[in-house]
Amino acid sequence: MLMRDITTITMDSKELRAKAVLVERRKEEGVRLCLDRPVQARKGSTLFGDVRLVHNALPEIDFDDIDASTKFLGHKFSAPIMIGAMTGGAQISKKINRNLAEAAEELGIGMSVGSQRAGLLTKSLADTYSVARQAGPHIFLGSNIGGAQLSHGLGLGEAKKLITMLDADALYVHLNPLQELIQPEGEPEYNGVLAKIKDLIAGLDKPVVVKEVGSGISDQVARRLEAVGASAIEVAGSGGTSWPGVESYRAKEAGDTLRFAAGNMLWDWGIPTAAALYGVRRSVKIPVVASGGLRTGLDVAKAMAMGADLCAMAWPLLRPATVSSAKVREYLENVIFVLKSVMFVTGCRNVAELRKSRYIVTSELKDWCALFDKA
Ligand SMILES: Cc1cc2nc3c(=O)[nH]c(=O)nc-3n(C[C@H](O)[C@H](O)[C@H](O)COP(=O)(O)O)c2cc1C
Repeated sequence: MLMRDITTITMDSKELRAKAVLVERRKEEGVRLCLDRPVQARKGSTLFGDVRLVHNALPEIDFDDIDASTKFLGHKFSAPIMIGAMTGGAQISKKINRNLAEAAEELGIGMSVGSQRAGLLTKSLADTYSVARQAGPHIFLGSNIGGAQLSHGLGLGEAKKLITMLDADALYVHLNPLQELIQPEGEPEYNGVLAKIKDLIAGLDKPVVVKEVGSGISDQVARRLEAVGASAIEVAGSGGTSWPGVESYRAKEAGDTLRFAAGNMLWDWGIPTAAALYGVRRSVKIPVVASGGLRTGLDVAKAMAMGADLCAMAWPLLRPATVSSAKVREYLENVIFVLKSVMFVTGCRNVAELRKSRYIVTSELKDWCALFDKA
């Protein structure tokens, strides 16, 4: 079994070191591909283009009085924005996580690290994650693990260690069946994952948030997750970063023509983010995080008007994070300024008002809404 007790971190065996080298290489490839190659949706979109908010020519508020702060799982955020789960497990990730966490700390928002499985292998890899807590001592910080790893034996004990590694405020479990399938060395085994999530929820004293990685969570899946006690759902719909896309590049390099072709065919597969958000929001009472292809403050404003509790962004922050925390902050400040601008011209003084704001839905999104309305 690959998973080892974290106490073995200080006594790296040869086998562990060899495994760590492979994992590190894969993690680094994932980041490099996201930086260097086109990995965004090709023809698909989030469908936020099909959402329009209503202009208010008489807002009766001063721009400076607008308050974008909110609460998520009991933690205060200065704006309804979180840095989505990305990385860790390679030396390049250490700088990225440090810069992301520093920006989150300065802005008063939250962040999640990427899948922490690699952090169980060696101390130097664990440091590529825990740097986020050092750089962001006060931020809401999420641990992260994959559904496939749960079905491969990662249990409550390891999950607790991952949380301790970061002094995390929540555990994020990502569901990525399509990514596992296209990944040349993936583990597309999802039998029994919901029961494992249920066990984790029962055994942990931290909230468990369940997310996708860019293919979206449906209304039906959301209900099953709420029923086993998930604390929140992050929809991570399609229209942004494509993981079948990223893995298809890796499949090509590995000479795996089957997965290369399938990854291309299914590049835009998934429930567009705005549709997933609509379906999940009307199906569950727990908090819902909008994510997958959110790029601007206008996207965030629309998602909040559609009932999201928070919005997460991943890929657009990756390149800035390779440079500095100031670059990450610059991107996010822009997002927050546009969000507040939209709040101003819709007459919303705070996030609670924005979440009640009127909107219309057109085109394809209307069809998705009709489907979820019938359910
Ligand atoms: C470089 C990179 C690495 C990622 N690694 C993880 C991961 O380890 N765990 C996870 O839950 N999601 C991971 N994601 C998925 C994101 O959290 C997010 O759900 C997805 O990329 C869609 O959001 P976006 O379009 O804003 O990038 C990763 C995304 C990127 C760009």
